[in-house]
Amino acid sequence: MPKKLRKAVLPVAGLGTRFLPATKALAKEMLPVVDKPLIQYAVEEARAAGIEQFCFVTGRGKTALVEHFDIAYELEATLRERNRVEALAQLDAIRIAPGSLLTVRQQVPLGLGHAIWCARAFIGDDPFAILLPDDLILSETPCMTQLAEAYARTGGNVVAVVDVPREHTNRYGILKTGADDGRLVEVRGVVEKPAPADAPSTLSVIGRYILMPEVIGHLAKMERGAGNEIQLTDAMAKLIGHQPFHGLRYEGKRFDCGDKAGYLEAQIAFALKRPDLADAVRAFLKHYR
Ligand code: G1P
Repeated sequence: MPKKLRKAVLPVAGLGTRFLPATKALAKEMLPVVDKPLIQYAVEEARAAGIEQFCFVTGRGKTALVEHFDIAYELEATLRERNRVEALAQLDAIRIAPGSLLTVRQQVPLGLGHAIWCARAFIGDDPFAILLPDDLILSETPCMTQLAEAYARTGGNVVAVVDVPREHTNRYGILKTGADDGRLVEVRGVVEKPAPADAPSTLSVIGRYILMPEVIGHLAKMERGAGNEIQLTDAMAKLIGHQPFHGLRYEGKRFDCGDKAGYLEAQIAFALKRPDLADAVRAFLKHYR
C-alpha cells in the first residue's frame, strides 16, 4: 500500500500580470468563476481527494487567500443575527481546520520548481499533490480524486494529461510516452515547453500532480531550464526510471483561467451547471451569436 496522500501544495505567488488591471490589488486566485474564487475550487477539489493539509506558496499582496479560509467573525456574527442559515453553512464549509493551512513565501519569482521547493519543510517525506488554481476542471469525478486513485494503484508519481494541438506544445510540459492503455500512460520523459517540431508527443501536463518527495532533492540543485526558470518539469524528469511515473488522461474539461478567453469560457460552462442560473444564462446567450 502506498503512503496515504494527505498534503497539497498550491503555488499562488504569481503576479497575475495577464489580468491587469483587475489584479493590481487583488490576488488572481481570488478571481471568481460564477461566485467562487479560483482558490476555493482548488481547495475543494483537493479535499474531495482526502487531502487534509494545505500549503500555499504565496508572496506580497496575497493575504486575502488566507483570510478566505479563516473564520470571518464579524461577518458570521451578523449573518447569525439575521438568521442567514444558508450563507453561514457555506462559510462553515469553506473553513480550513486550525493548523491545517500553512503559508510559505516564495520571495522571488524563479519559477514553478522554485515555488514547490519553498514548500519542502511542509512536504517532508510524504507524497504530495500540487494544484495550480489557474487550471480549473469541470468533471464528474474531481480531477485530483482521479489522480489519487491512479496513485493508489501505481504507487508513484502521477500527472494529469491532455492532448493539445501540436502548435501549442510550447505552452506546456510535454510527455515522452511509453506503454499506454488509453487512460494511464507510462512516462518515459517530460520536456518543458518544447517547440512543436521538437515535441516528443502532444500529451501535455495540466496543473494537477501527485509527486513523491524525492523531487525536492532535484529542485534543490536550482538548475535553470526553459525561460531561465527553475522548472518543476526538469526535476520530475529526473525521477523517471527510479520511481513509477504515469500520466492520467483524466475525464473532464480543463479551462485555462490564466487566459482571458479561457476564464470567460469557464464562467459560462460553470454557470450552465448551476440549477439556479442555467436557464437565465442559456436564455441570454441566444442574443450573442
Ligand atoms: C506550468 C508548468 C507546465 C504545465 C502548466 C500547466 O506552466 O510549467 O509544465 O504544463 O503549468 O498549466 P505555466 O502555465 O506556469 O507556464
